[in-house]
Amino acid sequence: MKWTTEKIRALKKSGEKFACLTAYDWGTARLADEAGIPLILVGDSLGMTVLGYETTLPVTMEDMLHHTAAAARGVRSALLVGDMPFMSFQVSIEQGLTNAGRFLKEGGADAVKIEGGAIRAPLISALVANGIPVLGHIGLTPQSIREMGGYRVQGRTPEAVERLAADARAVEAAGAFALVVECVPPGVGFAITRAVDIPTIGIGAGPGCDGQILVWHDCVGLTPAERAPRFARRFADLEGEIRRALKDYQDAVRSGRFPDDTHCYLTPSS
Ligand code: KIV
Repeated sequence: MKWTTEKIRALKKSGEKFACLTAYDWGTARLADEAGIPLILVGDSLGMTVLGYETTLPVTMEDMLHHTAAAARGVRSALLVGDMPFMSFQVSIEQGLTNAGRFLKEGGADAVKIEGGAIRAPLISALVANGIPVLGHIGLTPQSIREMGGYRVQGRTPEAVERLAADARAVEAAGAFALVVECVPPGVGFAITRAVDIPTIGIGAGPGCDGQILVWHDCVGLTPAERAPRFARRFADLEGEIRRALKDYQDAVRSGRFPDDTHCYLTPSS
């Protein structure tokens, strides 16, 4: 079964909680897809998790298209969403339309994600009117960290909560099929979820959201512990497992235990 925006929307009505994940290439997308994850996001978090930048700000359209196309080759069922990077849509509606179109045409994405609330409503309307589904993103929006003053929990005052609820309603009214809500207190995640009829997908927004999303590296334990955000739960320790495997590999080569006959192309007579 192929996940569509309609099927994602329907999860809100059925009350079924759902888990989403980021992926950045064929291998990670294939595993997420085969696990039955309904929505896979090629996040601009790849700037930090894959490319080693300190923030998402340097990520380019070319970076995003390269990784989205790789992920698309691993996806059969999930809805694949490409994340529009910093300054690929802020300049004008025309710029946003052109770049969002590239995600579908060149990246093989099914939809795009755009950071921002009411200010992005005109762009979201234009994209949806032109056949490009949009996943909204409010709360902590990492492309705005310079303006926000860092990675800070949002929605800490009644006014801020009211602004977030208004942003959520504006994004919904503009036609987004779902909404990422990042880094807000659980009560705020719950209030935003109740304020809209589209599914909310929380990350650091508590259990009251309709779905959750995690960054691949946080989920499987590849983020260095000192960089892991408080809201992320490690469901595996791949970093530890990889370190162990690399040590075993070197030991086996140095001691002559690898390769042995089972790894060699023996001639019939040997
Ligand atoms: O870039 C990203 O991975 C994201 C998710 C954290 C929602 O925006």
